[in-house]
Amino acid sequence: LKLAVLFGGLSNEHSISLLSSASILRNVDRNKYDLAVIGITRDGAWFLYENADPDKIESGAWEKEPGLRRALLSPDRETHGIILPETGETMRIDVCFPVLHGMGGEDGTIQGLLTLAGIPFVGPGVAASANSMDKSLTKIIVDTTGVRQADYYIALRPDYEKNAQAVARAAAEKLKNTYPMFVKPCSSGSSVGVARADDFDTLVSGLAEAFRWDTKVLVEEFIDGHEVECAVLGNIDPVASTVGEIAPTQTFYTFDAKYNDETSALYIPAHISEEAIETVRKNAVRVYTALGCRGLSRVDFFCTYKDNEIVFNEINTIPGFTSISMYPKLFEHAGLSYPALIDRLIELALE
Ligand code: DAL
Ligand code: MG
Repeated sequence: LKLAVLFGGLSNEHSISLLSSASILRNVDRNKYDLAVIGITRDGAWFLYENADPDKIESGAWEKEPGLRRALLSPDRETHGIILPETGETMRIDVCFPVLHGMGGEDGTIQGLLTLAGIPFVGPGVAASANSMDKSLTKIIVDTTGVRQADYYIALRPDYEKNAQAVARAAAEKLKNTYPMFVKPCSSGSSVGVARADDFDTLVSGLAEAFRWDTKVLVEEFIDGHEVECAVLGNIDPVASTVGEIAPTQTFYTFDAKYNDETSALYIPAHISEEAIETVRKNAVRVYTALGCRGLSRVDFFCTYKDNEIVFNEINTIPGFTSISMYPKLFEHAGLSYPALIDRLIELALE
């Protein structure tokens, strides 16, 4: 089976993709799959990386490897794969694992190209990916499920440019002037551009920072609780893993805490009641289904300290896949090894 693994990409989560894909390449069963490893630079240039070295992907040194060849994923169904423009060769791909996070990888764009090409791929399709990436669209869809989520305000760039103070006041009012609040660009992942606002002034500066990244910004009620995550796997009848917990050492789970700080800990299972775990699992599947996901997603919640209420936080359709990431760890806990998880994801892609 010719398996294309895409890594890197345009988004501000490029470096996480390098870690996720290196980890996948170290764990994938090379007797089962004939790999075509394709790296996408931060500028969006595509290269076929033969005899890919996971260490060099992880460090970013892959871009300087001799023998990289330009490789274009073709939307043409007859090609059903990639074209090497230097020689005109084509390479048929049976299935693709886009190990790309954020913009250009997790937002439906690459899924659209693969769909046009007729190439099955791991993870949700175009609409589910796009709706899960844009936090404001996710909110609106999750509102239809009855699953509780943090109160929110969606700020739009044209309004913001006209009158930043008025937008900040409207957001504060919608959230009943209760601080802290979180300010998030609607389409960035891994907490990039996210700020915590402790008062009106930091709300204003948080909006300024968030609008550097996006044209829509979500201002959200702060939920004081355990940060818990559930891994969902499957197509029409998805299964939920047990629930894990992030125990951050910083005030919130920042980009640094996620990837550069060895001290942030994971608890599996989460330190919440059995009943709360069951509610998270049930709600995770409900959110997954409402968004139209397939393959996999990690669905994140809070479990409030005060009354153990389960509050939806966000969904990641291509969750972090490093060896210390929650998604593979949750399934390992259930007895599904990392290599077996990759096999299962590929089976689901081909279903
Ligand atoms: N968006 C990153 C990769 C995650 O949440 O896992
Ligand atoms: Mg994300």
